[in-house]
Amino acid sequence: MSLANKYRPRTFEEVVGQKFVKRVLEKALDRKDIPQAVLLAGPRGIGKTTLARIFAKGLNCDLGPTSKPCGKCRSCVEIDEGRSVDVVEIDAASNRGIENVREIQQQLRYMPVSRYRVYIIDEVHMLTTEAFNSLLKTLEEPPPHVVFVLATTDPQKMPPTVLSRLQKFNLKPHSVKDIVERLKWVCSKEGISATDDALRMIAERAEGSMRDALVMLEQAHLYSEGTITEREVSEMLGIVPDRLYTDLMKKVVEGDFSGALSKASDITERFSPFEFASGLVKHLEKRLLKDDELSFEEKVVLLRMALDMETHMRQSADPYAWLNYDIARMCAFRRVVNLDEISRFLGYVPHTDEKIPQDDRTQRKDPLEILTERDPTLAGYVSESDYTVEGNTLRITVTSRLAAERVKGGEALLREVFGVKAVEVEVSKVENYRDLFEEIRKDWENI
Ligand SMILES: Nc1ncnc2c1ncn2[C@@H]1O[C@H](COP(=O)(O)OP(=O)(O)O)[C@@H](O)[C@H]1O
Ligand SMILES: [Mg+2]
Ligand SMILES: [Zn+2]
Repeated sequence: MSLANKYRPRTFEEVVGQKFVKRVLEKALDRKDIPQAVLLAGPRGIGKTTLARIFAKGLNCDLGPTSKPCGKCRSCVEIDEGRSVDVVEIDAASNRGIENVREIQQQLRYMPVSRYRVYIIDEVHMLTTEAFNSLLKTLEEPPPHVVFVLATTDPQKMPPTVLSRLQKFNLKPHSVKDIVERLKWVCSKEGISATDDALRMIAERAEGSMRDALVMLEQAHLYSEGTITEREVSEMLGIVPDRLYTDLMKKVVEGDFSGALSKASDITERFSPFEFASGLVKHLEKRLLKDDELSFEEKVVLLRMALDMETHMRQSADPYAWLNYDIARMCAFRRVVNLDEISRFLGYVPHTDEKIPQDDRTQRKDPLEILTERDPTLAGYVSESDYTVEGNTLRITVTSRLAAERVKGGEALLREVFGVKAVEVEVSKVENYRDLFEEIRKDWENI
């Protein structure tokens, strides 16, 4: 049996959280004042089915109706084992039609074996409109021996007419703390050993669902040898440990692009770009409300960039290129990008006019001067670049892809002016970053 089923609570006492609904149902049972149509609403894995079954046990227990079903009488045992004829569970997702509701209605006149016949209808919002209309009549005047417990993850989709017939309870997602506690308890029962960090990571990923947490615990137990550690859980679930993001964000906040890239590659060595980005979003969300060196506004800006990164990772054919770009963008978030500064630390020295060769000027006109007369734009690109003449070849290292295209387009003229047979054009690697930062600056101006 799965851990989730094995540790399904069998008494109200054992149910974690959900205090309000628990108290109301317990009181109703003890006062023998039984609500005949109840709606339990809330996300998956938080105790809707569990509470419905415990309520049914309380209704039909030999000692009942009672908030403390004995767990030993025939009715309690049968309900726990899921084979009580008086407790009918229906999944409305696969039984949506009016004929399914009619079937229930036909059974209503038969008396239950024990005190009540309890219909637990799961995902009730999935019923068709006709089915709802038909059910409505029954909910208005249910026979005294019948109780309906409806459950839904999506109460918004319920018709208001039906809602108004029901006693409605909103169940809450579990806190990380509650989930960790429950996981620890299950671990102790099962003799599973796990670190606190590992359990915390599972609990966070479960997003409030106790069932999801237990399923993950079970997987982690199968996956690990001996103690379940954070590292194993993080590998299994593709969750980047927070510590790695803390290191990365430190560099980002300092505006240290190369440092940030190196921290990022610590992460991408072990995780996919998508895991990287979605984890970063969660990390920043968690930080939003914490006090640290960043202002709230700054954190919002960074979060927005991380969300963009997540989209890029999902949609792009080359996620790694985007990853670098998005990290660069984050590094620049606090200031206007200073290209000189970035160039310097990338080991790139900006060109100055002195680098243009000036020796042969006395004998003949500088080719660049001739070029300036013939094609000033092309001359502009060439003068911004490193160029040398080697034998019959002119080698130009340009500063951007755009410049490379322009220079190639003017190849014939360059051959003529420089008196060479071939022109080779290369884009310097560092300059790819220059493009990158130019793009960032444009983006930035548009925000
Ligand atoms: N409130 C809770 N307290 C303890 N365990 C819970 C709780 N809610 C869910 N669980 C665990 O998750 C499993 C699924 O819960 P269930 O009640 O079927 O969720 P759902 O809300 O989807 O109907 C249970 O078997 C139990 O192990
Ligand atoms: Mg359920
Ligand atoms: Zn009993």
